[in-house]
Amino acid sequence: MDFPLFHLDFMGNRMLVAVIAILHVLINHALAVGFAPLVTLLEFRGYLKSKTKPEEGKVWDETARKLMFFAFVITTTVGALTGVGIWFAASLANPASLGSLIRVFYFAWFTEWIVFVLEVIFIMVYFLTWKKSNESPKNKRRHILFGVWLSIFSWLTMAIIVGILGFMMDPGSWVEKNSLVTGFLNPLYLPQLVFRTPVAMMMAGTVALMFVAYVMKKQNQWKTGILKYISFWILLWMPVAASGAFLYYWHIPRAMIGNLPVALGTQQFQDWYGSLITVMIVVIAIGFTVGILGTFSPRRLPKHLLIIPVIASFLFLGTFERIREFIRKPYVIGNYMYANGILVEEYPLYKETGLLPHTPYASMSTITESNKLAAGEAVFTLACTRCHTTHGISSVVRKFERMYGTENPLNEEAMKVYMQNMHNVRHYMPPFPGNDTELNALAAYLAEQQKRPKTLEGPQIKGVDVKEIKY
Ligand code: HEC
Repeated sequence: MDFPLFHLDFMGNRMLVAVIAILHVLINHALAVGFAPLVTLLEFRGYLKSKTKPEEGKVWDETARKLMFFAFVITTTVGALTGVGIWFAASLANPASLGSLIRVFYFAWFTEWIVFVLEVIFIMVYFLTWKKSNESPKNKRRHILFGVWLSIFSWLTMAIIVGILGFMMDPGSWVEKNSLVTGFLNPLYLPQLVFRTPVAMMMAGTVALMFVAYVMKKQNQWKTGILKYISFWILLWMPVAASGAFLYYWHIPRAMIGNLPVALGTQQFQDWYGSLITVMIVVIAIGFTVGILGTFSPRRLPKHLLIIPVIASFLFLGTFERIREFIRKPYVIGNYMYANGILVEEYPLYKETGLLPHTPYASMSTITESNKLAAGEAVFTLACTRCHTTHGISSVVRKFERMYGTENPLNEEAMKVYMQNMHNVRHYMPPFPGNDTELNALAAYLAEQQKRPKTLEGPQIKGVDVKEIKY
């Protein structure tokens, strides 16, 4: 309410954040958190081998360097851009929640920034000094040490962010104690970290395996040795990743189950549960097959099928991210702030006085016959647009049409009854936040949108009206 609400009426704000965030997480986990230690280890193996078999050592080193080149290009371009992009997109899509997070995690944010800058410096140094490091064993050892630092800092950036992600799902005792430490060490922090770490290692392994299979020439006599080593790496991390996944997963329902007020909610959960278990079993089976085949008989690895473990492990993480986002609803910060950016404790006030008098960026405070539709649009913006559009993705008009059919025009009375109860029927939606006149205006606006569809322009297009709020 304190901010103008950026809105994309075709793709929706959720989709914008989701696309950027998912791309970032996949790159971060696979190519930074997991890749840095794997590449460093390959380089270290090369260094050890070079003492007795210089030629083989060189091949290992060169392969590690090529892998790093690939990771370097992607992480410093798409990876870094989407990393910063998440915060831009999220602060546009839900400024109130970002505001709260910054208040709680101010110091964590600051630390994250320093750690991130250091990570970028380490990746530059590590990659750009690679060739020079081959000049002497001393240089090489120092270079490997940079790889270790890069691995630590890549992991740290994730370890800090995970505190914030866990907090958004379940702030735990922070709600009473209100301290950074209680917020950071929320109930889901460790389970999530224990899950993400091995998954990142495993994902890195699947990408590296595919990369090496394609990049190294078949005739290269050391190729099978490297494939074998990477396969073994995947095999080692698989059980850890699987246990981490179960640990994390079992922590979620216990903490969340109390928030799922109706049986339907649980049913939704059950649907997810089914698909999650299937994905997990399939991914684990694929991972083990590839891991075992590659470890014991690398020559038999089917090169063109190595994309499958990559996709499977990305899907594995993607499914978890979706679950995380899904079960957090209707909150953006568990039990504290709803996904529409309105605090739980402010609801009683707005139910009584309405939302509009408290919204500086809505031109009206009172609703009359003549401004009813404009007011309805303002209420829609506040109450629904963080998750719905008028006619684009997750279109609210289509949702109502699906419920009531398209034979008759949408009935305002029926929609009003629905909206008063929507949080009971669909636990993932927050309760309607305004008063009765605002509900009337919203229903009128929705009916009008069906009759005469009109794109809802966000403040980035139509500008903002600011009115003074009197207290
Ligand atoms: C926290 C995000 C969120 C907010 C805020 C929200 N919704 Fe929803 N809504 C959803 C989701 C998620 C669905 C299910 C989408 C799907 O079908 O895949 C949904 C579904 C619906 C449906 C179809 C329900 C059904 O039973 O099939 C209607 C109608 C609806 N929303 C109306 C609204 C209105 C009106 C508002 C504003 C007053 C609103 N929603 C606010 C997330 C939200």
